[in-house]
Amino acid sequence: MCGIVASVSTRNIVPILVQGLQRLEYRGYDSCGVAVHADGLKRARSTSRVAELQAQVSAEHLEGGTGIAHTRWATHGAPAVHNAHPHFSHGSGAGSNARPGKVALVHNGIIENHDELRAALQAKGYVFDSQTDTEVIVHLMDSLYDGDLFEALKAAVAQLRGAYAIAAFCKDEPHRVVGARAGSPLILGVGQDHSENFLASDAMALAGVTDQIVYLEEGDLVDIQLGKYWVFDRQHQRAAREVKTVHAHSGAAELGPYRHYMQKEIFEQPRAIADTLEGVEGIVPELFGDGAYRVFQDIDSVLILACGTSYYSGCAAKYWLESIAKIPTQVEVASEYRYRDSVPSPKTLVVTITQSGETADTLAALRHAQGLGMTQTLTICNVATSAMVRECKLAYITRAGVEIGVASTKAFTTQLAGLFLLTLALAQAKGRLSEEDEAAHLKAMRHLPAALQAVLALEPQVISWAEDFAKMENALFLGRGLHYPIALEGALKLKEISYIHAEAYPAGELKHGPLALVTSAMPVVTVAPNDALLEKLKSNMQEVRARGGVLYVLADADSHIDSSEGVHVIRMPEHYGALSPLLHVVPLQLLAYHTAVARGTDVDKPRNLAKSVTVE
Ligand code: M6R
Repeated sequence: MCGIVASVSTRNIVPILVQGLQRLEYRGYDSCGVAVHADGLKRARSTSRVAELQAQVSAEHLEGGTGIAHTRWATHGAPAVHNAHPHFSHGSGAGSNARPGKVALVHNGIIENHDELRAALQAKGYVFDSQTDTEVIVHLMDSLYDGDLFEALKAAVAQLRGAYAIAAFCKDEPHRVVGARAGSPLILGVGQDHSENFLASDAMALAGVTDQIVYLEEGDLVDIQLGKYWVFDRQHQRAAREVKTVHAHSGAAELGPYRHYMQKEIFEQPRAIADTLEGVEGIVPELFGDGAYRVFQDIDSVLILACGTSYYSGCAAKYWLESIAKIPTQVEVASEYRYRDSVPSPKTLVVTITQSGETADTLAALRHAQGLGMTQTLTICNVATSAMVRECKLAYITRAGVEIGVASTKAFTTQLAGLFLLTLALAQAKGRLSEEDEAAHLKAMRHLPAALQAVLALEPQVISWAEDFAKMENALFLGRGLHYPIALEGALKLKEISYIHAEAYPAGELKHGPLALVTSAMPVVTVAPNDALLEKLKSNMQEVRARGGVLYVLADADSHIDSSEGVHVIRMPEHYGALSPLLHVVPLQLLAYHTAVARGTDVDKPRNLAKSVTVE
């Protein structure tokens, strides 16, 4: 999704801005650009990769100490150079009243009232040359400018509705960049030698440049100059914000022996799970923060809010929370929950699940729940410094490490690990976890890294399945019970990166409709652990075979399903009980990955998708 890097410095800052954009590339974008103050406003923009932008700025000798840069993920207006940021104001009026443009601006988010603002600005003589919502902000600031860019920003944001992170500079104030955030993240980086300052949408953009980071809060405005900065809150009062030392992991960008980040991240799962569970000696509610015991005792239900893959981890957790902790659990897609009439209960624990901690829909759903009086909130999140962690009362930080591939893999399995711990901690707080069960569950969790390693060794078998799938245009995924969410996740992975249309069903639903789709051209992936529903699942598989469908079965070590004509079986190394979803999802990740590689798609940056979805 969109990324921002900006700076005021005494050195030529363009190489740092472009490098910052490179660090944000993994989030997904379709155009990019950089602008500097160099005796006026100068810029370069491209609909190609950041590397191409770099070549362009070198060729054009674009240099300057004050600048802003951006990667754009198109929402309003196609990916095209004229829609790429930075945008410049053109000024207004004609003839002797003509007023040249002064402001350069980048923006993440969506301005909802852009139509009415555009009409008002056009009436004042402003001419627009993009289809973006962003361009209204730059002309608005220009129209409000009266010698002080920060005052223009303050007046402009008062007229904006929607979500934004903004960075802007002005032709008349060469050593100043101003910024604002509401609904989209923006951080301030304090330069190491105190002569320069930065703004960015993510601390990762400044890795290796500065580790002194201020996380701006909702509604904050910021003014950075050479060696000085000021932060103001939404009431325009000076605000003291803590400077934190943040070690953004630029090293995560190394691919090592892997061909793609997604492959690397799949293979990192044993380590990611081990890190996530490190220090868990026993099940205590305080794993989730101070005061968790009281919260866990007070609540009588759980509401999980999340999007995409994180939503599917929540769907799996519902089975655990109801069967092990005996707590009624509801799982909702965040973008639906935030707009529907629901019946709130103050005794509900609201659990958000998010890799990035910045997903706009999940944050909005959390705030909606809080607005309804549900103040007991907990997040399972991979980014300790994210808005989600700051806004929830309790948190469990998964330690997947930076996930670069757009298709989420290690974030999913570490979320499951965190959710299983939550299940056990809730069960314990409610007096529903015996010492023997706690010991058995902990033992199984500690063995997960080794168990995952054994599953990863199945890769050659999965590659042979992927050769078949690469020729297909559709696929069905079936699972039952706890493994239905794993089927959903398998289908999502396949469609995201291979562009094969894939759908998942609870296997019992097959005969209620999707069976009509089954032919020899419709591979049917079946997640078949040896659980209480295995015999039922075998009947569903017969229904597929009887219609000429070809089955690809992930069987457990002891499922007693063998390969035969039209039935391809991969046997999992060991039977894993309640934690089996963490293992069964891995061959499905590998299947999506190798199918996509065989089809030649851009695995880490699939078309139309972004890593961190910070707009609605
Ligand atoms: O950062 P989050 O976990 O909140 O992101 C949620 C979804 O956008 C994300 O899981 C998305 O579905 C992935 N592309 C799935 O691979």
